[in-house]
Amino acid sequence: MTGSLFRRKHITPDHGGQQPLARSLGWPHLMALGVGAIVGTGILTLIGVGADKAGPAVILAFAVAGVICACAALAYAEMATMIPASGSAYTYTYVVIGEVLAWVVGWSLILEYSLVVSAVAVGWSGYAAPLLRDGVGVPMALMQGPELGGIINLPAVGIIGVVAALLLRGTRESATVNAVLVLVKIAALIVFVIVAMPAVDTANMVPFSPFGFGKTMGPDGVERGVMAAAAIIFFAFYGFDAIATAAEEAKNPARDLKIGIVGSMLICVVIYVAVGAAAVGAVSYTRFANSPEPLALILRELGSPLAAQYLAASAMIALPTVILAFFYGQSRIFFTMARDGMLPASLARVSARGTPVRITLFTAAIVAVLAGLVPLGELAALANAGTLAAFTAVSACMLIMRRRAPDAPRTFTTPLPWLVGPVAIGGCAYLFFSLPTQTQVWFGVWNIVGLAVYFLYSRKRAVIA
Ligand code: ALA
Repeated sequence: MTGSLFRRKHITPDHGGQQPLARSLGWPHLMALGVGAIVGTGILTLIGVGADKAGPAVILAFAVAGVICACAALAYAEMATMIPASGSAYTYTYVVIGEVLAWVVGWSLILEYSLVVSAVAVGWSGYAAPLLRDGVGVPMALMQGPELGGIINLPAVGIIGVVAALLLRGTRESATVNAVLVLVKIAALIVFVIVAMPAVDTANMVPFSPFGFGKTMGPDGVERGVMAAAAIIFFAFYGFDAIATAAEEAKNPARDLKIGIVGSMLICVVIYVAVGAAAVGAVSYTRFANSPEPLALILRELGSPLAAQYLAASAMIALPTVILAFFYGQSRIFFTMARDGMLPASLARVSARGTPVRITLFTAAIVAVLAGLVPLGELAALANAGTLAAFTAVSACMLIMRRRAPDAPRTFTTPLPWLVGPVAIGGCAYLFFSLPTQTQVWFGVWNIVGLAVYFLYSRKRAVIA
């Protein structure tokens, strides 16, 4: 019984019998790929949720979440190059640890990818809503969920529909479009820093950490503190698996992957801390805490409405690629799990265009409902719970393989693995326990449902059974 729960999948290097992909990507491409998938709603919108939880110390929350995520990213790169097969953390866990944990990780990834789609759609809507209101007169009640006093967030639902339609046509991110959109996003954030920096007044940063470091419950029933903020802000840093999955296409994987992953994480940490410092220094954090478009709001408060519109327009143009990347990733996870017999193959059946129509439509319906009705902070928190579980598993896989097969060839080796691995695992655990308690409960419920599916269906039908 336990033996079969921990049965492991074997992978041959020529997995799938596919032609090796052309090695055409250098480290600048990989870095652009990473920054393209990473920079999104986290920095543009969740900075407001983070400020509500940590005050000016939201900058510290960015640094803490960034370091933990960077450690997990290194472990991720090592596993991605050792096991270059689709399915990411789910597949690594299936190969290294065993089936039942692989199931939990796969089930967590489904949660992560789906909720990132919902969360980024809500973030997109936050910046689009003022433009839609002033431009075409859409009433605010139809552009905000019930928690902000609205009825439904229709722009969020709409953008999910648009991206789902693109996916059904077989669209994937193109390197060129991605590079342009990366520049659009970075330019907007640089404009923000240039406008806000001169207005920095240290008085806005005092007291720096009004809610302390560890998670504590406030009198209004909201959990706050630097770590509570870091657990949400963590959202801003992931998406780099886009780089790891391009390992096969790197010109010089050992060097390019390292520079690509570490470099894009470093760029993001630097940009995020600069944006965070400019934001909390330029105006009191209470002005933009929980705003649906905090950075545009700050620019308006500073008397720069044009810069605010430019930033909002950039967000509207660039955020849909983040949605596309995660939506696509979700269908790949489904596809891999179905190919292993863990989910019904009919769900993952692909059309002539190579897109899994059913799962795309099914997912679109669910994530659109969530985006229409659930607040951004709650969506991001639950997405983070799934991601933290996956990152913990990948870091554990890295350490286990170092013990089990120390001499196996590794295209990429994590520096200082016995420091980086434990920091990633311990950090992810600490972030998980810093999430809102309600989120932890939801995550538990999600996995109880998942394990029921596993024991009633997947365990018997798994291909390796
Ligand atoms: N890191 C991505 C974002 O912030 C998910 O939108």
